Amino acid sequence: MNILITYYSRTHITEKVALKLKEELNCDLEQIIDKKNRSSFFSYIKSGFEAARKIPADIEETEKNPNEYDLVIIGTPVWSGSMSTPILTYLKQNKDNFNNVAFFCTCGGNEGKTFVNMEELLSKKPLNTLSMNKKDVESSFDSMVTEFAEDIKNNN
Ligand SMILES: Cc1cc2nc3c(=O)[nH]c(=O)nc-3n(C[C@H](O)[C@H](O)[C@H](O)COP(=O)(O)O)c2cc1C
Repeated sequence: MNILITYYSRTHITEKVALKLKEELNCDLEQIIDKKNRSSFFSYIKSGFEAARKIPADIEETEKNPNEYDLVIIGTPVWSGSMSTPILTYLKQNKDNFNNVAFFCTCGGNEGKTFVNMEELLSKKPLNTLSMNKKDVESSFDSMVTEFAEDIKNNN
């Protein structure tokens, strides 16, 4: 099966999961690059505001065509109980361009409506989902990611 992992990560937590998944699944990887610098406290607040209001971010053009993959695994940090705005943009841009999708997210404690909103936006049910707490990713997280990767390998 031809798999692509696409992710956005502001502080490398979601990236850590994406890289581990890539290792497990030996597949292609695409990082969503946000054009905005979100490192300041002000931009943190603004990002939360924009996510809550579903205001898409401006992102760099992506390289991989999702339509060429049997499955695209999409990873996002949770922002204001939903997907990050760079991932919102990516999903809007490719809405009708996915064959199958799976989702993963990392959060401070509550994934909120992240997966529900992603599913609604794409009108597509994810084959698998994985939600991880930032603290788990920072300590030991390998078994959860391995299990998610095994599910994907076995069920698809
Ligand atoms: C703007 C913003 C809003 C956030 N909102 C939430 C939230 O609603 N719920 C939650 O559990 N964590 C929230 N977080 C925490 C992140 O989801 C968490 O730290 C995540 O692991 C960061 O991933 P990253 O390093 O890949 O960007 C928020 C973080 C940011 C920057």
